[in-house]
Amino acid sequence: MSTLIDNIKYFRKEKGLSQKEVAAKSEISLATYQRIEQGTSDVGMTDLSKISDVLGIGVDTLMKRRCTIITLANTKGGSGKTTMAIHISKQLKLLTGKKVLAFDTDIQESLSNVHSDDSIVDLVTFDHTKKFVSKESSIRTQLVNLSKEYDFIIIDTAGSFESFTFLSAIIEMSNILIVPFQLTRMSISGTEFIEELIVETNAHRSEQGKLPTKAVAVATMVNKRANEVKILKDIEFEGINVLTNVISNSVEYSRTDDLSTSFTNASIKKEFDKFMDELEKYTGLSN
Ligand SMILES: Nc1ncnc2c1ncn2[C@@H]1O[C@H](COP(=O)(O)OP(=O)(O)OP(=O)(O)O)[C@@H](O)[C@H]1O
Ligand SMILES: [Mg+2]
Repeated sequence: MSTLIDNIKYFRKEKGLSQKEVAAKSEISLATYQRIEQGTSDVGMTDLSKISDVLGIGVDTLMKRRCTIITLANTKGGSGKTTMAIHISKQLKLLTGKKVLAFDTDIQESLSNVHSDDSIVDLVTFDHTKKFVSKESSIRTQLVNLSKEYDFIIIDTAGSFESFTFLSAIIEMSNILIVPFQLTRMSISGTEFIEELIVETNAHRSEQGKLPTKAVAVATMVNKRANEVKILKDIEFEGINVLTNVISNSVEYSRTDDLSTSFTNASIKKEFDKFMDELEKYTGLSN
């Protein structure tokens, strides 16, 4: 799908407008407008400028590629955030060939440590030592700037939240939030904090006329043989969709946890592909 059509749809939904409303306000017939969104009819400059006026988004912005920001977060440490950030970044690069950036905001810099000259994705490490700007405004500015350069930004966050406002700022800037969790009582019960956070940041986004951040939870380090998966169907989080595909507990994930190496084990590769498919279906990753 073209960037333009993609953006028209995206911003129309962001403004909470129906196809009918945009068509009426831009004085284009509904049928023509629908053909434009379907990509079966080219949009002429006159119609484009009318649509741009109705959406309140400049034509140049509508023509530009949009960046998808994906954040990995969970209150519970050691839940697989960094590992998932690594695999998702590499997989997105391999699947789409687009510009992918891994962004390390954890002061422990685990993600930065697995970056090398062979890495297939770029990496930026957040500077926690800045003295004269708040971390929140600093990350916002940095993400706005990086969004102009990259198609996907995958953000790894810290396991413990000394800084609630910093994590809020990151989530509020994200299109997608992924919460990796283990199928243990402690991990499952530790997610209330992140549930509250997503409700709050989405309320902020809505005030600014932005689409909500889509939140999904994925069970990681699952022992499939012990049939741990069967408890998955009973798990519910507020405002967070639990994916049905899970990530196994396998050395393959830790063996390939750098930003250059691909999976070698076929069944793990297949498992991860299925997870990415579901993620894409639920979040409209490429839209
Ligand atoms: N699917 C998996 N199978 C096996 N081991 C895994 C898997 N995912 C993560 N691990 C291992 O579990 C440990 C914790 O994972 P990871 O560092 O990704 O968690 P984290 O949420 O980033 O932790 P922190 O909160 O400390 O940042 C690591 O040693 C990692 O190699
Ligand atoms: Mg980590």
